[in-house]
Amino acid sequence: MRKKIVAGNWKMNKTFDDAYELVEKIADELEKIATPEMNVVVCPPFPFLEMCGDMSQESFFAVGAQDVSEHESGAYTGEVSAAMLASMEIDYCIVGHSERRAYHNESNEAIANKVKQLLANDISPIFCCGEKLPEREADKQFEVVEKQISEGLFGLTAEEFANIVIAYEPVWAIGTGKTATPQQAQEMHAFIRSLIAKKYGKAVADDTTILYGGSCNAKNAKELFANPDVDGGLIGGASLKAEDFLTIVKARI
Ligand code: PGA
Repeated sequence: MRKKIVAGNWKMNKTFDDAYELVEKIADELEKIATPEMNVVVCPPFPFLEMCGDMSQESFFAVGAQDVSEHESGAYTGEVSAAMLASMEIDYCIVGHSERRAYHNESNEAIANKVKQLLANDISPIFCCGEKLPEREADKQFEVVEKQISEGLFGLTAEEFANIVIAYEPVWAIGTGKTATPQQAQEMHAFIRSLIAKKYGKAVADDTTILYGGSCNAKNAKELFANPDVDGGLIGGASLKAEDFLTIVKARI
């Protein structure tokens, strides 16, 4: 059975005290509502990983990083390796987010390398994919997502692939307040699952968690999560307020 996950991508927000307050509120509420089927992941900026990791030890959430180096170690100033994350008990890491693809020119090849680094260190990649607005307007969304997934992930063995979480995040929906309709999300998620089934077989496809991201919020989460192929969400803006994030978590239970 595939996991249901709600993950909060804090992006470059919060200072230490704000981050502490947010994660403390999340931890307190999860104590009351957590179920074994529910997986909550918090993805703070690098400087707060240790604090969040410590808090997670006594709580019902896991911690993810927002990015990782494609290199193993060495002279890469400013980079953070998968081994460093693993040594801090980080369980997940977002890779290939559209903001990294756009502002840091991350290629599918670089993202594939990051995925390999993470898997070698027992960290589950949350692999982001999604089309830009002109691509959707030209009805190229399936082509774009297929290329991102096949170049970013399909070099893996079926055994390696079992650790992958996919996040479909249409770029036109991220931070815009313009959410994909539940039909658009379901259609793309079913398409992604069919690609996985073609490559690795139905059992692997059925076990793969596919999250939706892009202006998913406390109001629309339930309707999005009601779709059979939408297994949860990767939440940006709405993960910065404990009440909103927890409402989304409850929508997934
Ligand atoms: P958003 O961001 O929820 O603010 O649209 C989602 C994401 O970028 O992961």
